[in-house]
Amino acid sequence: MHFLRLYWRVLALLAADRWVAIGLGFAGLALAGLSFLEPILFGRVVDLLSRSDRLEVAQLWQEATALLALWAAVGLSGIGAHVAVALLADRMAHRNRLTVMSRYFQHVLSLPLSFHGDTQSGRLMKIMLMGADNLFGLWLSFFREHLTTFIGALVLLPMTMFLNWRLGLLLIVLVVLFAVVSAWVIRKTEAAQGQVEALHTRLAGNAQDALSNVIVVQSFSRLGSEARLFGDIVRQVLDHQFPVLNWWALVASLTRAAATVTTIAVFVLGTVLHLRGQASVGEIVSFMGFATLLIARLEQAVGFVSRLVFQLPSLEEFFAVLDSRSSVPEKPNAISLGRVAGAVRFENVAFAYPGGPRILDGIDFEAPPGRTVALVGQTGAGKSTAMALLQRLWDPVAGRVTLDGHDLRDITLDSLRRNVGVVFQEALLFNRSIRDNLLVGRPDATQEELERACRMAEAHDFIIRKPQGYDTMVGERGSAMSGGQRQRLAIARALLKDPPVLILDEATSALDAATEARVQKALKALMAGRTTFIIAHRLSTVRDADEILVFENGRVAERGSFEELVRLNGRFAELVRTQLSGAEAAHA
Ligand SMILES: Nc1ncnc2c1ncn2[C@@H]1O[C@H](COP(=O)(O)OP(=O)(O)OP(=O)(O)O)[C@@H](O)[C@H]1O
Ligand SMILES: [Mg+2]
Repeated sequence: MHFLRLYWRVLALLAADRWVAIGLGFAGLALAGLSFLEPILFGRVVDLLSRSDRLEVAQLWQEATALLALWAAVGLSGIGAHVAVALLADRMAHRNRLTVMSRYFQHVLSLPLSFHGDTQSGRLMKIMLMGADNLFGLWLSFFREHLTTFIGALVLLPMTMFLNWRLGLLLIVLVVLFAVVSAWVIRKTEAAQGQVEALHTRLAGNAQDALSNVIVVQSFSRLGSEARLFGDIVRQVLDHQFPVLNWWALVASLTRAAATVTTIAVFVLGTVLHLRGQASVGEIVSFMGFATLLIARLEQAVGFVSRLVFQLPSLEEFFAVLDSRSSVPEKPNAISLGRVAGAVRFENVAFAYPGGPRILDGIDFEAPPGRTVALVGQTGAGKSTAMALLQRLWDPVAGRVTLDGHDLRDITLDSLRRNVGVVFQEALLFNRSIRDNLLVGRPDATQEELERACRMAEAHDFIIRKPQGYDTMVGERGSAMSGGQRQRLAIARALLKDPPVLILDEATSALDAATEARVQKALKALMAGRTTFIIAHRLSTVRDADEILVFENGRVAERGSFEELVRLNGRFAELVRTQLSGAEAAHA
């Protein structure tokens, strides 16, 4: 059954702690045994008392003392086992909760952009937190309670048959009935609870989406409609949740009813058997004890099973994320390259986003080490996508991309990305200090190195004008910096990384003309001695490129140096003319 498979997987996560788990298993067995011993001892004491008129006083005392001493020993060892279980189980659950969270976090971070592109980060957070909490709860309750319950039901219950098989049978019937009813309700409510969880996840995803776009929400006065959207989902959650709650309320009341019926049945059957001489008073008392114990346990089990049903979908989501594999997998024998010379080749490369049309087709070019290649063309032509292939954020559907002659699929992702630096149009920054953001480029950089890079990127001056200087926090996604400041920080970060292959994707588009001219100087210095790809709409930026590739609908329509292309008098020349006339119009 699906349900048990999942539960098994939850427990299997504790594999690293299996010795603790096995120890806890034995402690659980001891606890189960001890809890069943008490009613037996109680029964023996009652039997002893009912025989008291036929016994010598001294013998009565002797037997009673033995029984009571045994009882005390059982009680004390029960307390000991209980404390040990609680302590060990708590520690193990806490430790593994954090372990599993780190594992999830690392896994999600390593998943490719194809995964993150269509998964909201709010969902991923929610799945991690809920999943880890639920696992924690399940581990704890398994070792603290349910292990004892399972052992009790599976091993000790049949043993009551030896005490008195007729009364034992009655208890077994109760347990079987209970199992059947809860299995039935689980089946009835599983699907509905799955929907509830999916809605909860959507809720978290939407909330995060709205929160991270709070400026858009406010400036487009979307407050009301966003709240309505949230309210709609909340209502749907409740609509799906209530029927599930009804079913489990029914199970809870059935268990209660079963409890009363069983107690009465044990009493009635016990009395009949006693009158026929088939059961002693002590046995009846013992079985009353078993029944109470069992019913308490069953009630706990109902609570547990229903909780598991409620948590199952969130655990499934958690495991689904853990199981998702990268679409750019690393070969087991991938080569780790040192610092490369920087020869890049696209060999007849074609690419389509999953389920989409071809974005790139027949892309074929070579960039020898140290050369500068510019990619120009209208928006949406596939320039950034081509550079995404060079970083192996995706794999081509045909052809191959090579770095120093190695197919990107044959080298480790880490060594590839160490050799390739990128400055995007959208400078992505962590919500940390300027210094920490720069150190992402080179963790061991000294203050002098940081400042040199920032001077080259024209960033030093604005940084030291901030009251906190290099310790200024940049805000979420760099929101406390201007667009141009963010870009200059990103350039400084790339300067520090000092990679042999550099991609500048609209890296200076947010700068004013004067600053751009200064940063261009810095970029020239940066580009010296490395293979550089520049994507730019401002054609003045690409004037000095060794080769310009003009992209059109995913193909390279023209290629050559600036002068050659202007002379060709094709698309590129047309682009240059429109930009020039635009500039003249702006000056006029
Ligand atoms: N993650 C994605 N999933 C699906 N389609 C995408 C994805 N990213 C980009 N595209 C599509 O691929 C095409 C090429 O996009 P790309 O970003 O490469 O263009 P570009 O040449 O860099 O344009 P721009 O000059 O505007 O930056 C576009 O039609 C775009 O809509
Ligand atoms: Mg682009």
